[in-house]
Amino acid sequence: MTVKELEKLLSEMSLEEKVGQMVQRVASEMVSGAIVTGPEGIVEPKKMSLGLIGSILNTRGAATIHDLQKEFIEKHPHHIPLLTMYDVINGMETIFPIPLAQGCTFSPETVEDCAAMARDEAAAEGLHVNFSPMLDLVRDPRWGRVMESTGEDPWLNAQLGKAMVRGYQKKGNMAACLKHFAGYGAPEGGRDYENVELSERTFREDYLPAYAAAVKEGCAMVMTSFNSWNRIPSTGNRWLMRKVLRQEMGFDGVLISDFAAIDELIRHGIAEDSREAAKLAIEAGVDIDMQSNAYMNNLVDLVRSGEVDEKLVDEAVMRILKLKNDLGLFENPYNGSPEDEKRLLLCEEHRKKVRVAAASSFVLLKNEGLLPLKKEEKVAFIGPYADNCNIHGSWTYLEHPENNVTIKQGVERKIGTCTYAKGAYVLDEGQKTRMYDPEERAVLEEELLREAVELAKTADKVVLCLGEHRHQTGEGGSRASITLSKGQLRLMQQVAEVNKNIVTVVFSGRPVELGQVQAQSQSILMAWMPGTEGGNALADVLYGDAVPQGKLSMTIPRSVGQVPIYYNCFNTGRPNPTGDRVGFIHGYIDESTKPLYPFGYGLSYTTFDYSPVTLSKTRMGKRETLEATATVKNTGSYGATETVQMYLQDVKGSVIRPLKMLRGVQKVFLRPGQSREVSFQITEDMLRFYNADMIYTSEQGMFRVYIGGSSDTENAATFTLE
Ligand code: GLC
Repeated sequence: MTVKELEKLLSEMSLEEKVGQMVQRVASEMVSGAIVTGPEGIVEPKKMSLGLIGSILNTRGAATIHDLQKEFIEKHPHHIPLLTMYDVINGMETIFPIPLAQGCTFSPETVEDCAAMARDEAAAEGLHVNFSPMLDLVRDPRWGRVMESTGEDPWLNAQLGKAMVRGYQKKGNMAACLKHFAGYGAPEGGRDYENVELSERTFREDYLPAYAAAVKEGCAMVMTSFNSWNRIPSTGNRWLMRKVLRQEMGFDGVLISDFAAIDELIRHGIAEDSREAAKLAIEAGVDIDMQSNAYMNNLVDLVRSGEVDEKLVDEAVMRILKLKNDLGLFENPYNGSPEDEKRLLLCEEHRKKVRVAAASSFVLLKNEGLLPLKKEEKVAFIGPYADNCNIHGSWTYLEHPENNVTIKQGVERKIGTCTYAKGAYVLDEGQKTRMYDPEERAVLEEELLREAVELAKTADKVVLCLGEHRHQTGEGGSRASITLSKGQLRLMQQVAEVNKNIVTVVFSGRPVELGQVQAQSQSILMAWMPGTEGGNALADVLYGDAVPQGKLSMTIPRSVGQVPIYYNCFNTGRPNPTGDRVGFIHGYIDESTKPLYPFGYGLSYTTFDYSPVTLSKTRMGKRETLEATATVKNTGSYGATETVQMYLQDVKGSVIRPLKMLRGVQKVFLRPGQSREVSFQITEDMLRFYNADMIYTSEQGMFRVYIGGSSDTENAATFTLE
């Protein structure tokens, strides 16, 4: 349709029809007939026919969606098709690593490739919009949704967020929806849905750039966040949505609330009732009300009474109709088919790709000679994750998790056999997860433990496979403690008493405390939640058919007491260079200020040497480009990929500036003995920040350029911006 035709359609629609486009309901209500419960769970009369709504969420399956869409269009007064939306966070049926692990690839190419696979499988199942990318910057591993973020760095999140938008939207048959706007990743105490207390400077400097980058990349939709920032809940925050998102960032797409977030303005305490919540949200520019009753039960009356200008409704509905038009729904309202599903879901090509993606997301934290394993070695695989298919992230609902390849299966396929003992349960008795997902405990823990220790005694090496339950992260999955279960730590302790050659593989959706793991393991591999091909990818890396290349996208603390802890922190007036000096100095008396493992860190089976950084010039004018170079050499015996990182430091500014800021990444493959010059172009725009007057600009003075394989590199050169 042309814009003129869309405008004509809008002009012919009744007010009820227009408001209907702004209502999104779960698809199950279309079948069951909506039982409308209000904000306090009170059953309310439904003031609008579900036959008028504009979109549905949380259903999948081409045949199901096709039948629902067909019947809906036939009955709709103007036959306007539904948009179908879903959370395809790390794959639809072929599951790839959680976004936090994708962040550890430092590879926009890998992330875009995974997003394209997710798009093809989601479209095959009839979906039009994906509630992804989630671009909330995270610095607190207590928060359950760190698994859904690509990590703690603004620049890396921006690169990977743009890659996801490209992957989802490139074919034109799917829209991406960035979320959660804004600042949801900084809840106080790591408690989900908690208030966010950030200065506007920090908010703009660290938390907004990734959203802005995704908008600039053309992301079609934005979702509001549950949290308040500056004491105003996002979903009712006119300044945030109309000034920052639409005016400053130039977003002109569809803004959708998060699930029931409009009515939640009542509980936040800024709306008296659902009617006032609806008014606040439409004035903030929220176009679609996801599953609250605010718009459905109040917006028509608010317009009729003159409390809300119908113009606001028309603007919102035009954006929704335009999105449907851009996706071609008026010509073809159906995506996918059962044939597409059969051809694409879990297809061999996708399995191969996610196996490589998973292998490149693992982070080797420690390796004192035990890895890679040799096929002739007698290795015991022990632990609750050694033969566990629940290695898909918490944002995936698989009917058949048994399609996921476990480590035991991966090893058996690779070397023909795998000796295994469970050793412990994932959870301690009574330990909670965010979902009721009871772990079957048929065998006595003591029995599991005894069997495992006996096996460990006979092995050359032990691969301990430990981790969090997949539902200890995700929405509603915040934890005050980020340790592994007591049962697993007891297993580790008793195995370590009979066998010192321990490789520990850790499955988790967040950085977890690894103190005991670090002390009792000779090698440690972070596997996160690797998805469908996890076991094959791990067998590839453990036996050296793939060389680890992942780098931490989020700091691993020594203890939860250090949180929040992140690499791009400040020097303070009393810096503590070693981190553990005590006295009137920055830090603690009972813990170091240094993390256990820093952002950007990750080992390989080989070693890399960096030459000192050289600069094309030491003075740079605002309109000039400066080139920083380091020669990277593979000084080990494996061909491997190194993720070369370039950080900048603004040594002095009108406000304090982070010690380091990631501003460039290049992945280079080097054979043993091979060297390569790696250069980064530095331009003035990379040096800008919000100065003391909140003006976004650069300032003259000294800068440092670091080039290395981790954020704790000291390999630097300095230049002056004139
Ligand atoms: C959830 C999440 C959001 C998701 C939406 C739809 O509550 O906060 O990320 O996209 O509801 O499932």
